[in-house]
Amino acid sequence: MGTLWSQERSPEGELPNEWGRRWTVAGQVLMAVLIFGLLLGSSVLFVYIFGSCGPRPCETPVCLALLAHYLASGNTSVDPCTNFFTFACGNTKGTSNSFQTLAKENKNRLRRVLEAPDIWHPDSGEEKVFKFYSSCMNTSAIEAAGAGPLKHIIEELGGWRISGNWTSLDFNRTLRLLMSQYGYFPFFRAYLHPHPNSPHTPVIQIEQPEFDIPLKQEQEQKIYAQIVREYLAYLNRLGTLLGGDPVKVQQHASMSISITSRLFQFQRQAQGKLFQIVTIAQLQEMAPAIDWLSCLQAMFVPMSLSPSQPLVVHDLEYLKNMSQLVEEQLLTHRDFVQSHMIFGLVGTLSRALDSNFQEAHRELIQKLRQLTERPPMPTYPRWMKCVEETGTYFTPTLAALFVHEAFSRNTQSAAMELFSAIKDTLFSRLQRLPWMNEETRKEAQERFTQLQVKMGAPEWALKPELAKQEYSDIQLGPSFLQSFLSCGRSLRARIVRNLLHPFPHHRWHVFPWGVNAYYSISDHVVVIPAGLLQPPFFHPEYPRAVNFGAAGSIMAHELLHIFYQFLLPGGCPSCDTHALQRVVLCLENHYAAFPLPSGTSFNSSHTFLENAADIGGLAIALQAYSKRLLWHRGETTLPKLGLSPRQLFFRSYAQVLCRETGSQDSQDTHSPPTLRVHGPLSNTPAFARHFRCPHGTLMNPSIRCQLW
Ligand SMILES: *[C@@H]1O[C@H](CO)[C@@H](O)[C@H](O)[C@H]1NC(C)=O
Ligand SMILES: *[C@@H]1O[C@H](CO)[C@@H](O)[C@H](O)[C@H]1NC(C)=O
Ligand SMILES: *[C@@H]1O[C@H](CO)[C@@H](O)[C@H](O)[C@H]1NC(C)=O
Ligand SMILES: *[C@@H]1O[C@H](CO)[C@@H](O)[C@H](O)[C@H]1NC(C)=O
Ligand SMILES: *[C@@H]1O[C@H](CO)[C@@H](O)[C@H](O)[C@H]1NC(C)=O
Ligand SMILES: *[C@@H]1O[C@H](CO)[C@@H](O)[C@H](O)[C@H]1NC(C)=O
Repeated sequence: MGTLWSQERSPEGELPNEWGRRWTVAGQVLMAVLIFGLLLGSSVLFVYIFGSCGPRPCETPVCLALLAHYLASGNTSVDPCTNFFTFACGNTKGTSNSFQTLAKENKNRLRRVLEAPDIWHPDSGEEKVFKFYSSCMNTSAIEAAGAGPLKHIIEELGGWRISGNWTSLDFNRTLRLLMSQYGYFPFFRAYLHPHPNSPHTPVIQIEQPEFDIPLKQEQEQKIYAQIVREYLAYLNRLGTLLGGDPVKVQQHASMSISITSRLFQFQRQAQGKLFQIVTIAQLQEMAPAIDWLSCLQAMFVPMSLSPSQPLVVHDLEYLKNMSQLVEEQLLTHRDFVQSHMIFGLVGTLSRALDSNFQEAHRELIQKLRQLTERPPMPTYPRWMKCVEETGTYFTPTLAALFVHEAFSRNTQSAAMELFSAIKDTLFSRLQRLPWMNEETRKEAQERFTQLQVKMGAPEWALKPELAKQEYSDIQLGPSFLQSFLSCGRSLRARIVRNLLHPFPHHRWHVFPWGVNAYYSISDHVVVIPAGLLQPPFFHPEYPRAVNFGAAGSIMAHELLHIFYQFLLPGGCPSCDTHALQRVVLCLENHYAAFPLPSGTSFNSSHTFLENAADIGGLAIALQAYSKRLLWHRGETTLPKLGLSPRQLFFRSYAQVLCRETGSQDSQDTHSPPTLRVHGPLSNTPAFARHFRCPHGTLMNPSIRCQLW
């Protein structure tokens, strides 16, 4: 039966089978034709959408403002294939520094908030913030008060022989007051920092003071003498402004300078000495002139210190010599020591004093910069200084105000989305790096998944109710100087309290309205402040090309710093070292091939890590952007520039790096701006393709390197 059944079945089944096969063949042909037709149709459609109409121009006010910015900054008559930097950044008025411009604009936003009439709640902490700012801006009140408030402080410190009454000196009391009440350190510097292993027992560190005079070891004798002369003239001016007798002032000013230069010599001898741990009692024996316990106790309330408290000391030799000098001086010239301390204090307070003091200080700085061949200090408007002071003393409130003003939830989530796109792209690229073996790849991926990201502002500023501070220990008035000093005391106390309390989060190194993103090795966290996620670097309404090219490549750059140790010599023993060395060498040659603007000199071995992050950052941002182009519709671009979305991406990458050429600091770990633009872009084949750069032009070299 079974067989019959099967026999019967077989011919029955054969027919449909046969037909089925025929249908399949015919169907395949038909399908192929259909799919081909569809593809043809859709590609015609595709060409129609992206070719003839092109991406939609963004003409919202936000985009038009960006357009104006781009139009004002470049010179499009320059060939992008030979000098893209000038194409994007050069114009007749010279190149402006994109980061500096943005930083200034962010401060201007804060200024508008601080100057808006009556937006604060009376009798709240906020009220103090606005009042502090307005008393800082009230220059007529500051001028009217003149040197009066300062003279009052000098009396509180025991007076000085130059003017007013001079009572006998209680050296330890004056020093304690200077440090704890005025934050000024004439002979040594003491500060707290978190303990690397147990975060709530901060470490007290003692080191040399910062010297007001820019003395350097390798300085020529002639320059040294000129610097000293300028400084002497400055101290004379201060003494006169405080009503001193010129002859006496001259005498005390000279002695003050001689004390400074003796201290400086101690430091010079002790250079390179290591850190040591000693107790307060031990330090008291070695450097007996100072009452260490009471000085440090006054500075670091509410910590409770005892003679057995350990201290981290940098340069014990310096402290011993310093103590000896102070004892010597106190024996013979007690009044000179007092004047020396007060001169130093007045210098640090000049920014809270009237225009005479400010002008004297500014002129000193300009002359010293001239002598040490540094560019002159730019002059900043008063409002900017006042915004900065207010930001320093009232950071929590200003952070919350800035977030409220300029970092809406919409901006925040758009930034997070951009960041995820960048992060995913980098993660997938890790799979394909020829110089990484499995083990390194795993390690890299693990580091990557453990990474924390802080976007915009610390948690407490994103939830404004957490940022409410009462600032109850701040007393404003009667003079601006007194407000300023009260704010300083409150800030120092807050820093101590913060270090004593458990703090589960990363402590930000930048203000949320700042423009510097960074990676913290110790906390393994990438921080991107709200100040950076602003026009012209980022806006949710911008064409994606702009956000990916500008903010996106910065994000990718910072992410790559997680892996920087792989690139250090011997930093990745399990990598394919030959392959790695080949691309490192390739990169070095790549950068060495670019001409430098005249007058620039820098050491390319200092900039290697940043170059690598620049190159990788651009490649990752471009890949992330291309992926978006593929999967998302509705691409926009800027009108009038005549740039395709990808060209706009490259232009935006360059735009954030615009900066004056020739202002390279020899310590800068970044390449000069032209190189930061040309190095990565010329290493990108897509750049040459989209700008149609002929082979062999600067931006289309024959050799490219693939590190990331
Ligand atoms: C733009 O560059 C061209 C060619 O170098 C130069 O002649 C012109 O003056 C530049 N224009 C501006 C506005 O800088
Ligand atoms: C400046 O301060 C003076 C004195 O305190 C006050 O009378 C004046 O109204 C203030 N000016 C402004 C613009 O706040
Ligand atoms: C100096 O001290 C005397 C007495 O204590 C006092 O009357 C006088 O006003 C003081 N002078 C100054 C300039 O402070
Ligand atoms: C300051 O205090 C220390 C420690 O008590 C003491 O050795 C030193 O003599 C004091 N200095 C003066 C000038 O009183
Ligand atoms: C510092 O002190 C040590 C010993 O106390 C001494 O040998 C050295 O000469 C001093 N340094 C200076 C620059 O005076
Ligand atoms: C650049 O810096 C490296 C490392 O600090 C040093 O070895 C090299 O000599 C420097 N080169 C120049 C030209 O200064």
